Amino acid sequence: MDSKIGLGFKFDRIKTPDFYRHYIKYNKKILGMIEPKIKNNSIVSDYGGGNGILARDLLKLCRKRRKVITIENIDIDESRFEKIPRVTGIKGDIRSYRTKGRYDSAIARHIMHYLSPGEQLRFLKNAKNNLKQEGFFLLINFVVDDRKSYEIQGKIFKIVRKWKRIVRKDVPTSEKIKGLCKKSGFKIVKTRKYTYKLSIIDFYKNRYKLSGKQVKELQNSLGVKSHKVSQLAVLMQK
Ligand SMILES: C[S@@+](CC[C@H](N)C(=O)[O-])C[C@H]1O[C@@H](n2cnc3c(N)ncnc32)[C@H](O)[C@@H]1O
Repeated sequence: MDSKIGLGFKFDRIKTPDFYRHYIKYNKKILGMIEPKIKNNSIVSDYGGGNGILARDLLKLCRKRRKVITIENIDIDESRFEKIPRVTGIKGDIRSYRTKGRYDSAIARHIMHYLSPGEQLRFLKNAKNNLKQEGFFLLINFVVDDRKSYEIQGKIFKIVRKWKRIVRKDVPTSEKIKGLCKKSGFKIVKTRKYTYKLSIIDFYKNRYKLSGKQVKELQNSLGVKSHKVSQLAVLMQK
């Protein structure tokens, strides 16, 4: 059993086409949804920010507009923190992390599927509590919206769990995420969705460090080599 999968493992630096689409390709467009709302000297939280790949891109975008911001990356796994100027790593659990009205804005990406639906709601309520009045929150997560891909995604998590200790509590859909955002009291300002494919031999093989034999078993059990996934970005206001 590999206990580091999903936590300490720096999977998002792997250079393959699927990783590029999932972690890099849409960053500028998606972060462009919140950048105009961020003022100079803002403090921004990045919930479950990991090695800061998104924080770096937000800093870059703000710098282009001559804005200096500070980002606090709240992550349960401090081994993922990297030294990045203007980014502070805070070891914390987003299910319980509360600091009333501290942040001007917030971002979070690819974190919802680590939480059960109850925990997702608790996290969103905490994020709202931690924002200043009228602050903005950009929540980004992969979603699986068509039935066939939804079933495949669930099966992938189930099969990989036989080999690796992965923490996956939910397969998010657009409707589930938007419903929870509203339930937590946020007002949805704008959403965007980008759809692409993730393949077993590229994304999942590298993501979970699967052997050739495991990849074959996964493909045979699923009867497909890839599935559709989308990146959903929801811009919300407190
Ligand atoms: C898939 S990575 C995404 C990293 C980053 N947000 C990105 O998009 O590049 C998920 C991150 O969430 C963190 N995480 C998982 N559960 C968490 C929790 N309950 N509280 C804080 N961080 C958590 C993991 O340690 C990991 O760094």
